[in-house]
Amino acid sequence: MNIRVVTGDITEQKVEAIIVNLFEGVEHPGGATGAVDRGLGGLITHLIASGEIKGKLREVTEVHTMGKIAPERVLVVGLGKQKDFKLDTIRGVAAEATRQLKHIGVRRGATIVHGAGIGGIPPQSAAQALAEGSLLGLYSFRQHMTTPPEDTDPAELLVVEHSPEKKDLLEKGVSYGVVLAEATKLARDWGNEPANVMTPTRMADIAQEIGRTYGLTVSVLDEKQMAELGMAGLLGVSQGSRQEPKFIVMSYRGDDSARETLGLVGKGITFDSGGISIKSDDGMREMKTDMAGGAAVMALMQALAQLKPRVNVTGIVPATENMPDGAALKPGDVIKAMNGKTIEIVSTDAEGRLILADALCYANKLGLSPIIDVATLTGSCRQAFGDVCTGAFTNNQELLARLIQAGEKAGEYLWQMPMYEEYKEQIKGEIADIQNHGGRTAGAITAALFLAEFVEDTPWVHLDIAGTWRSDKDKPYIAKGATGVPLRTLANFIVTRSGG
Ligand code: BES
Ligand code: MN
Ligand code: ZN
Repeated sequence: MNIRVVTGDITEQKVEAIIVNLFEGVEHPGGATGAVDRGLGGLITHLIASGEIKGKLREVTEVHTMGKIAPERVLVVGLGKQKDFKLDTIRGVAAEATRQLKHIGVRRGATIVHGAGIGGIPPQSAAQALAEGSLLGLYSFRQHMTTPPEDTDPAELLVVEHSPEKKDLLEKGVSYGVVLAEATKLARDWGNEPANVMTPTRMADIAQEIGRTYGLTVSVLDEKQMAELGMAGLLGVSQGSRQEPKFIVMSYRGDDSARETLGLVGKGITFDSGGISIKSDDGMREMKTDMAGGAAVMALMQALAQLKPRVNVTGIVPATENMPDGAALKPGDVIKAMNGKTIEIVSTDAEGRLILADALCYANKLGLSPIIDVATLTGSCRQAFGDVCTGAFTNNQELLARLIQAGEKAGEYLWQMPMYEEYKEQIKGEIADIQNHGGRTAGAITAALFLAEFVEDTPWVHLDIAGTWRSDKDKPYIAKGATGVPLRTLANFIVTRSGG
């Protein structure tokens, strides 16, 4: 679906349907909804009075215009209570309304920007959220369905604004939103692909393709190069798999005068069986999405190449399967990480931190700063936060504060967890420097403390997305399956850092 900003009167758009809105409790609609209401001889006011339109959150009421105004149909979408209205409300509302356009077979529709009027949201942010919600609401993963979908997506959505002064801001918002939504859809696609398709090699090929298409420098290290660098974590995890591991490095340069290059690291386990410490069958198939952190980082790199912010960013994705076989890593094995620290393997299912250890060392070696890693790391984090918040850990409060803010804007919540020294006791090795398992309690924290051993003093944030990586049910703008979190948070963070 193509989204385009036009200036003019929504009642005069020659489209099959227009979308206007209403807060709960409003009896006489104003703004664009008011103009449509007048054009329809007070029909909307009448439907409010008769109780048919309540303005409840994401309620959609469809009315036919019978030639009174140019559009054939009007969808009135509820914004809910005005006191509860926030930026993220726009995404859900836009998603619901756009899905309804699709459902009733509209090819060309038009919408007003929800929230920019009495909602009090800055126009550019509102337009970005509108574009994100409209596109993400249409997302579904059908790559392996051989039957055609019941409905087809609308071809075009016009975003209609009456005042020409706002057009530039709205266009900027829409174009950001489109890029971020398209990148999020890619991250979702890769996460939803089965593990026999989304192998480490496939991920590396995709990275190379993005590099060629969008002009990023991409390099992929093979096993021999990993061995030369001493990446025992990544090689160790991969040694039980028939798939070759890949170490993917993508770099975007938007500012040659800058001293800093930001580092993003994403966990790329294309299937996590647990290895010799094999998982129970319960939900194991979800573990095809254990590369969601890597997918978010890769898709974000593409988005950056399109948005061109004035910053430098390098994305790193260690990719491998975690499988059991005769050559696999075993509980009790000891390996030496890239920075020389020895690690005792207690559980081969705590594999994420092993591959991230190498990636963090590599990021440090490249001098990247700050470093943000994203990983489906621990069931413990999912236990704590469910699918609402990402667990966040840091050695730099200021950096995390800015990320939390960026997340707030994206409708992706981050919540900080502690890293007290005292927890370190739990990951002391018996016969090596540290061990990869911290026992039954505080699992998300001990995992973060393990990673910290490889970060040293670089400002760093670790995001544990084991809860937010996928959704078990359809939500307003997130379909069941991979979510693409925290791509839009990171994008907002980077764009803000670059000065907008
Ligand atoms: N990929 C899993 C974590 C996970 C669990 C992600 C559920 C998403 C949903 C990770 O590799 C893992 O297996 N972690 C173990 C660590 C434990 C063995 C220390 C876990 O959380 O059980
Ligand atoms: Mn695991
Ligand atoms: Zn894992």
